[in-house]
Amino acid sequence: MKACTPSSVLLVCLGNICRSPTAEEVFRQQAAIAGLSIKIDSAGTSDSHVGDKPDPRSQRHAKSHGYTINKLVARQVTANDFRDFDLILAMDSQNLADLQAIKDGIIDTEDDLAKLALFSEEDPTYCGSDVPDPYKGDNDDFEEVIERIESSAQAWIESWKAC
Ligand code: 4NP
Repeated sequence: MKACTPSSVLLVCLGNICRSPTAEEVFRQQAAIAGLSIKIDSAGTSDSHVGDKPDPRSQRHAKSHGYTINKLVARQVTANDFRDFDLILAMDSQNLADLQAIKDGIIDTEDDLAKLALFSEEDPTYCGSDVPDPYKGDNDDFEEVIERIESSAQAWIESWKAC
């Protein structure tokens, strides 16, 4: 049986300037269309872009698909995110491993830390695969990011609507 709609979802990549801010806005729009009330945020495992706006290439490609992400600001994931969010979705398997290490390091007697999963987990098209890091890539790589994010976000929403 599918898990029911989480009340909060955190999208995580490495820098929080390309994939996860894009996923944050795609998820927000898709959840609103589906009538699901979910708190949505994004963060990076690295601190290298904390305080930065999304990469201009991500802003441009997102905008061309109807997603405005220019007001988002990068932040690093924290241990508290595991208490504040029901579900944390990793853009790639390295992000997932890094998140698991943070979760494993949390000394907490409570048993309600965020569930972790790969962003593509529910997606029949891309299941188990990474949303590739586009940072050193070209326009096609940024387009692929949008396509994969739309597909995998929709798959999560569909799984929750069916619950
Ligand atoms: P993101 O992309 O993880 O999708 O935000 C990256 C952004 C910055 C870097 C790598 C990936 N970087 O090496 O600075």
